[in-house]
Amino acid sequence: MTDIRVTTVDLSSEGVETPLLVLQVFERDRTADGYLGVLDGLYGGAINRVLGGDFSGRKDETLVLYPAEGVAPERLLLVGVGKREDYTVERLRLAVGTAVNVASRMGIGDVAISLEHVSRLSERMGEYLAALAAVEAALLASWHFRELKTSSSDERSTPLATLTLVAGSDDEARELRGAADYGTVLGRAANLARELATRPGNSATPSFLADVAGRIAEARGMKLTVLDRAAMEKEGMHALLAVARGSQEEPRFIVLEHQGGTEGAAPLVLVGKGVTFDSGGISIKPAASMEDMKYDMSGAAAVLAAMDGIGELELSANVVGIVPCTENLPSGTALKPGDVIGSHLGSTIEVINTDAEGRLILADALSYARRFEPAAILDAATLTGAVVIGLGHHAIGLMGNHGDLLSEVRAAGQRTGERCWPLPLWDEYRPQLDSDVADIKNSGGRPAGSITAGWFLKAFVEDATPWAHLDIAGTAYRAEGTSYLPKGATGAPTRLFIEWVRARAGG
Ligand code: BES
Ligand code: MN
Ligand code: ZN
Repeated sequence: MTDIRVTTVDLSSEGVETPLLVLQVFERDRTADGYLGVLDGLYGGAINRVLGGDFSGRKDETLVLYPAEGVAPERLLLVGVGKREDYTVERLRLAVGTAVNVASRMGIGDVAISLEHVSRLSERMGEYLAALAAVEAALLASWHFRELKTSSSDERSTPLATLTLVAGSDDEARELRGAADYGTVLGRAANLARELATRPGNSATPSFLADVAGRIAEARGMKLTVLDRAAMEKEGMHALLAVARGSQEEPRFIVLEHQGGTEGAAPLVLVGKGVTFDSGGISIKPAASMEDMKYDMSGAAAVLAAMDGIGELELSANVVGIVPCTENLPSGTALKPGDVIGSHLGSTIEVINTDAEGRLILADALSYARRFEPAAILDAATLTGAVVIGLGHHAIGLMGNHGDLLSEVRAAGQRTGERCWPLPLWDEYRPQLDSDVADIKNSGGRPAGSITAGWFLKAFVEDATPWAHLDIAGTAYRAEGTSYLPKGATGAPTRLFIEWVRARAGG
């Protein structure tokens, strides 16, 4: 596990004792100033020489410099970050990811980073945000899922043992320490979500996720409720049970409660879709890429991981995590197209397509949430292929019933780099879900597939409760990665969840 350290040095004269110091360099910066200038002095003018020619500072360009014998740091890693005016927190995360990958390939496990240059030159970003982004990115970049490999073919990659943030004063060190502690929780929580999502369907089953929730409850002192099939029947979760009916695997309905706020204060509720494998059911999916449907519990993974982080931070809010879990498989007992089923809310649903199963299990979870009289509800679900067509892999589809809440969620996602983009839940879309035989259909057809899915969920949320829905089908995992989030599960929107709760709790 990576240890995050903060060290204070005199930035006007001192080097840092480290095997590798990472420095970001802007395109077109031709002379080393500030701390870069000090290091240039220690390195006999080497930085100014490469800035004058060999190194352009273009995005993700890297160069390693070595000093004369006995000079600290032992090496410098220059990472290009493009034009100064285009520099963002996300660009910093990408640069840190690149640096961590280079260090790993070089066999270096201890890395230091100076943010002096960027936080001084970029008006939009202070030390705190820069350090937070650096810590998050380093932890995300150094995570790998190796548990199910018996031979380690990529032995040459060295894990990141320590990341040291370089501060120029004790005041700044305190600031960086705060960012390091919060960033560590965000990064580790996101990595937990990635681990759960990456596990295949035969590993991350509903009962496995319930066991994970048990460990979180124990570690963080949370209340845990787990409903099995019989308890769900008693509770009247007809829609969730209808999906679970096709599978031998036992479904689980998981509820974690964090009591960090004043007693009786209305809680924030997080809901995550936990379909541990989605074959489509009788409306079966094509074989190509069906294996990706192990990721169909990414919403559940994010809620469990966020609850773990919220508990670790002891945030001053009451928070409830609700995670409905089941497989969606075809069988002789499975739900069929045309079936009309009940729901926890009491309304009836005509199942047009058994592959629109996520909204069925979320309907019961959202209805169950009413008992907590929530201050607000956020749900995350790999809900529709349509959101991947509409927004690709770079934006979460955001819908809801409350403008201020949507703004809060967008702002939180902007801060963590899990960006959301709004889709309109206009009344005009609602008739696509009108059924001839039941209260509502579970599919509105191809047009605006993400929005009609959102409308379906809205039918199970009390109008007075602020609610936002995050369609993460395009963002929870991806085939092509970035430097700090390689291909596979991204952990989204775990960090957004924690950051939203932190902002609400004022901590
Ligand atoms: N889990 C899928 C959505 C999905 C698709 C996630 C691709 C990630 C990548 C969901 O259960 C589903 O199958 N949705 C259907 C709904 C349709 C039948 C109304 C879809 O989007 O095709
Ligand atoms: Mn489906
Ligand atoms: Zn699904």
